[in-house]
Amino acid sequence: MGDPYQAGEPYADTVAPMTGLLDDLNAIGFGGKPIDDREMMMEKLIAITASLPDDSKARLKLSQLIINTLNSSLQHPPMSYMGDQFKYRQPDGSLNSFITPQLGAAGTPYAKTCRSAKKLQGVRPDPGLLFDLLLSREKGVFKENPAGISAMLFYHATIIIHDVFRTSRKDANISDTSSYLDLAPLYGSSMEDQVAIRTMSEGLLKPDTFHEIRLLGQPPGVNVILVLYSRFHNYVADMLLKINEGGRFSLQPFDKDDPKEKAAAFAKQDHDLFNTARLVVGGMYMNISLHDYLRGLTNVHHSDSTWTLDPRIEIDASFGQDGVPRGVGGQVSAEFNLLYRFHPAISQRDEKWIDDLFTKEIFPDIGKPLDQLDLVEFLQGVAKFESSVPVDPSKREFGGMKRGPNGRFKDGDLVASLKASIEDPAGMSPNASFRSSEDITTFSSAGHFGPRMVPKALRIVEILSILQARKWYAD
Ligand code: HEM
Repeated sequence: MGDPYQAGEPYADTVAPMTGLLDDLNAIGFGGKPIDDREMMMEKLIAITASLPDDSKARLKLSQLIINTLNSSLQHPPMSYMGDQFKYRQPDGSLNSFITPQLGAAGTPYAKTCRSAKKLQGVRPDPGLLFDLLLSREKGVFKENPAGISAMLFYHATIIIHDVFRTSRKDANISDTSSYLDLAPLYGSSMEDQVAIRTMSEGLLKPDTFHEIRLLGQPPGVNVILVLYSRFHNYVADMLLKINEGGRFSLQPFDKDDPKEKAAAFAKQDHDLFNTARLVVGGMYMNISLHDYLRGLTNVHHSDSTWTLDPRIEIDASFGQDGVPRGVGGQVSAEFNLLYRFHPAISQRDEKWIDDLFTKEIFPDIGKPLDQLDLVEFLQGVAKFESSVPVDPSKREFGGMKRGPNGRFKDGDLVASLKASIEDPAGMSPNASFRSSEDITTFSSAGHFGPRMVPKALRIVEILSILQARKWYAD
């Protein structure tokens, strides 16, 4: 070939001396190396192909090559689309994958990862006995987390598990929250949940409000973190509107005399601000999860390493043509649900808090030790407690903190609660037994929770877990 091909030139230069096909392909760099678009290789290839005679076998082969290359340069079908449905998260986590829209959505079954290869024994050990022998934390016995981890790490873990697991009380195979880390404890898992926490104006949430009722049965520090996310959401929505980049949050023009048009313009602005703020808050939650939480959990904070397991890094195509796929969604599994019950790591202070909550608020008339609660008593107590909580999430209170006339908690109360939790040592964590950077390389074999570390008051919860695990295995 002569000078580089220029757009607008005829495809074939008939007067140029003919070279061999292989020479031509090598000359234009078609050898499996990365392609520089500015070299216009595809145009050169088309020029070569077009110059070949009608009955040329090489022309057919080259045509096939061109079609294949063009075809595989695009996803089939595409993984991502334009429009609000795809730009924003759906309240229930659906449409994360366009091909399987319900994959990972709230209200779908847990995945089952492990094959039930062996039969369970006909007579199984009593789960209560298993708890007493293997899991129970005896009073006064507590192994402080040797890596210096505080209860705060497990508060974040608690938010994560309430984000991705909500085993349905009607059908334990179903999770009523999505499989995605979409901050369901703040935003809920349906449009109805969202309406209960939103002001439906300018993308804002009601003051210091979050969705998850189950968190009221968790230590106050967990709820404080949710309040902070809620406040951050409102800060982001406020800033987005104030900056209003490119006028993207301006009200659409409407006829002042048409109340429907006016309402639609305000609703669209609220929708865009709420959902954009939600994406920003979700991004921060993801960064906290990957850079603070995951590094804490794998004990990397104790080293000089900046490493964390960030699935968002660019990965070359070593695992198939497009590398690790994006936009295909996922579904949490029943096994993951069972493994993620970090009850042994609960701090001593929180153990005391559970005892107080259970004896004073959830099971006040029980009249026996908490580790003697049976299934019916437990379920009835929890149902009664949840029905005593205000339906409107913006009226709920926790940890003895009171809302002011503006609906907000006092900053000082929130800070005091967080400070106490930050200074509160957690129990053993999965990877707490290694401290140096050399140990990190062996963390997968060194990690453990330690036996006999679950607070006694959670005996019935663990019995339910064991029974559920057996049922999931057998099904
Ligand atoms: C003081 C702290 C905690 C208390 C009082 C507590 C209490 C409970 C209770 C009562 C249940 C049963 C819920 C039901 O069946 O309705 C439960 C389930 C569960 N807990 Fe905890 N827990 C605590 C901390 C944690 C932590 C730190 C984790 C892990 C990060 C965890 C992971 C789980 C998981 C995965 C479930 C199953 C949830 C589901 O399937 O929907 N818990 N917990």
